[in-house]
Amino acid sequence: MRGGSHGATQPSRAGGLEASTFQLDRSHSRESMNKLVPFRSVLIFGGAGFVGSNLAYRILKTTDAKVHIFDNLSRRGVHHNLKWLQGVAGNSDRLKVTIGDVRDAALVQRAVQVATEIYHFAAQVAVTTSIADPVFDFEVNVRGTLNVLEAARKSDRRPFLLFTSTNKVYGSMASQRLVAAARRYSRAGDAGINELQPLDLHSPYGCSKGAADQYVRDYARTFDLPTVVFRMSCIAGPRQFGNEDQGWIAHFLYSALEDKPVTIYGDGRQVRDVLYVEDLVRAFETVRSRMEKTSGEVYNIGGGIENSTSILEIIELIDKVTGKKLHYEMERARAGDQLFYVTDFEKLRRDTGWQPRVNVRQTLENMYDWWKGNRELFPSVVLARPVVAARLQELPEVAS
Ligand SMILES: NC(=O)c1ccc[n+]([C@@H]2O[C@H](COP(=O)([O-])OP(=O)(O)OC[C@H]3O[C@@H](n4cnc5c(N)ncnc54)[C@H](O)[C@@H]3O)[C@@H](O)[C@H]2O)c1
Repeated sequence: MRGGSHGATQPSRAGGLEASTFQLDRSHSRESMNKLVPFRSVLIFGGAGFVGSNLAYRILKTTDAKVHIFDNLSRRGVHHNLKWLQGVAGNSDRLKVTIGDVRDAALVQRAVQVATEIYHFAAQVAVTTSIADPVFDFEVNVRGTLNVLEAARKSDRRPFLLFTSTNKVYGSMASQRLVAAARRYSRAGDAGINELQPLDLHSPYGCSKGAADQYVRDYARTFDLPTVVFRMSCIAGPRQFGNEDQGWIAHFLYSALEDKPVTIYGDGRQVRDVLYVEDLVRAFETVRSRMEKTSGEVYNIGGGIENSTSILEIIELIDKVTGKKLHYEMERARAGDQLFYVTDFEKLRRDTGWQPRVNVRQTLENMYDWWKGNRELFPSVVLARPVVAARLQELPEVAS
């Protein structure tokens, strides 16, 4: 992962090479010794969150790139991720933190100025919250994304930009022909959903993420910005502060471990595919290093049929992995819920060779291990009420 493998030098918009953006590759591998590679200045909106902190960790550990995290710390628990990353970065000046909001266009523009690549994860992430406050959801997810895109468009660096969209942009897919078995729904041929599935934006969250998804795609078409959209199904792994509204696998696993009951909406036979977060992070790297192929593309990404599970099945697996019984009650299904969503990631595999490596059981085991090392965060922080904003402000910026 160090330097050379991502190696193609990146021409500026004028066609020349920006000397100030290059540095020596300090890789120990002989072939890449002394090779000039673009200086990577990585900006992660939502970088304190689950996906963002895993990506930041990987970049800090395996490359010489600088990482700038821009996050308003609104997600409960994520300040722990930030503290952990600060520990990883140590005294190096490689990690910069801005506690800021993507709705603040001027602050976003300032952050984007020096970035050579941008990952935009900052979002209002819950369907439930979007229904309670659609305007807030719109402001963060659509306006916030437009702020990021506009800043990138105005930047001389022509940064690579990756946006994480969602399977929710395909709606409930109620017309799929499904078969109901005792513990799961299945679809004819167990085929997954590919990018040809028509958009059907359902719920304010579906609409705002879908609008942002289309804006990001279009900035590649209209402004020649190297953007990629990932439409993701369930991502799981360490550092996810899941709750009933988002991050349901973490929510189920940690609730089982903390002897807290959960609510299942629907009959529990709904099927999802699960992707381990490190497989996702590897996919980010893969599409970035092949941007001549991936720019302007939208990819469905998830664990695929081999990593699919129904809610009832994963509860059984949680029992096996942890030895703890998850207690639950059942409520009516939520409007627009997909009974069956499994990703067909063939387009991404074809374009980049990527495919998942970690299965659902291993994912749960890794999350369980993380829980064992971070028990003090449970239940007081993760399963408790949101932390007060005033306390979050006390976190200092690491560098400016
Ligand atoms: N985790 C999944 O299973 C999944 C699935 C599909 C799509 N996604 C998308 O991937 C992205 C990352 O998801 P995640 O699971 O890491 O979520 P997360 O909630 O852990 O991370 C999002 C981060 O963004 C920050 N944030 C929220 N609003 C902000 C704002 N206005 N300004 C600045 N920062 C803000 C939060 O504090 C949090 O740290 C999101 O855009 C989400 O919609 C996630």
